[in-house]
Amino acid sequence: MIFNPLLAYKAVLEQKEFKLISQYINQNYGIKLPDHKRIMLQGRLINRLIKLNFTSFKEYTNYVFSEQGKLTELPNMIDFISTNKTDFFREAVHFKFLKDIIIPEFMSTPKSQPMRIWSAACSSGEEPYSIAMAANDVINTNSRFDFTIFGTDISNRMLEKAQKAIYPLKSTIIIPLETKKKYLLKSKDSGKNEVRIKKELRDKLSFMWHNLMDKEYEINQEFDVIFCRNVLIYFSKEDQMQVLQNLIKKLKPYGYLFLGHSESITNMNLPLENVSQTVFKKIIRS
Ligand SMILES: C[S@@+](CC[C@H](N)C(=O)[O-])C[C@H]1O[C@@H](n2cnc3c(N)ncnc32)[C@H](O)[C@@H]1O
Repeated sequence: MIFNPLLAYKAVLEQKEFKLISQYINQNYGIKLPDHKRIMLQGRLINRLIKLNFTSFKEYTNYVFSEQGKLTELPNMIDFISTNKTDFFREAVHFKFLKDIIIPEFMSTPKSQPMRIWSAACSSGEEPYSIAMAANDVINTNSRFDFTIFGTDISNRMLEKAQKAIYPLKSTIIIPLETKKKYLLKSKDSGKNEVRIKKELRDKLSFMWHNLMDKEYEINQEFDVIFCRNVLIYFSKEDQMQVLQNLIKKLKPYGYLFLGHSESITNMNLPLENVSQTVFKKIIRS
C-alpha cells in the first residue's frame, strides 16, 4: 500500500494511546501530561507519524513501545514532548548573584580544583553559556579563578544544539554588547544572521544525556553550584522531592542550588537555606 501523508495529518490521538504515552512519560521522565495536553501532544507527534509512514497513533504507540522502537523512536518522542523554552540570561539576577556573591566566596579560600557547575536540564545551551559568560568575566580579572560547566538534558535534539553552540542573532539581543564582543562570533556568511559561542568558552563546557528522574545519579562528581531551573514545574510534588534529594547529594557542603523563579521548596524540609530569589545554600544538619 502506498503511504498517504494526508492520512497521517488527519490521525487523532485517542484517549487510550494518549494515556499510554502520558503514563510512560510521567513514570520515566517525571513530566506530567494532564488530559488538556492531548491535542498539544497530537500536534507535536504528527510529524513523527509522517516521518515513519504511520497513519494512526495506534500504529505509532505499538512501534514506539516495542523493543526496537524503544531504542530507535523513544528518544525522538521525548524530544518532541519536552518543552525546551529557554533564553540567554533568563532570570538575570541569578547570573549576577553567581558573579558577585558565589564566585568571590569560592575564591576566598585556596582551591586546587576549578569551580564545578552543573546546568541540569540545560535545553539548547543558552543557560550554561550564560553561566560561562558570567564566570569567564571573573577569569579576565583574576587568573586564579577557573571553572567547568556540565550541561545535561533528556532531549538529544537540544543537546546537539548546545554542543554546536550556534544561535540565531535575534536570540542574543538580551546579551550586553560588551559581553557579545567578548564571547560571540558572527557568522561570516552575512545572509545567515547567526552567531557562535567562541571556542575559548565552549571548551569550558561538556554535555551529556541525563534523566533527572533516575533513582541514583551515575555522575561521579560533586558540584559547587547546580542550576536546575524551569523543569521541576512539570513534575509532581513527590517527583520534585526525589529529584531535589538527588541533586542535594551531588552538591558539595555549602554549595548552591538555583531553581526557576516560579519553583518552590516550601514544606519539603530539605537541608537548604534560602539565600536569594530561588537560590539555596546546602546546609549541614548536625
Ligand atoms: C523549559 S526548559 C528549561 C531550560 C533551562 N533550564 C532554563 O531555565 O531556561 C526544560 C528542560 O528540561 C528538560 N527535561 C524535562 N524533563 C527532564 C528530565 N526528566 N531530566 C532531565 N531534563 C529534563 C527538557 O528537555 C527541557 O530542555
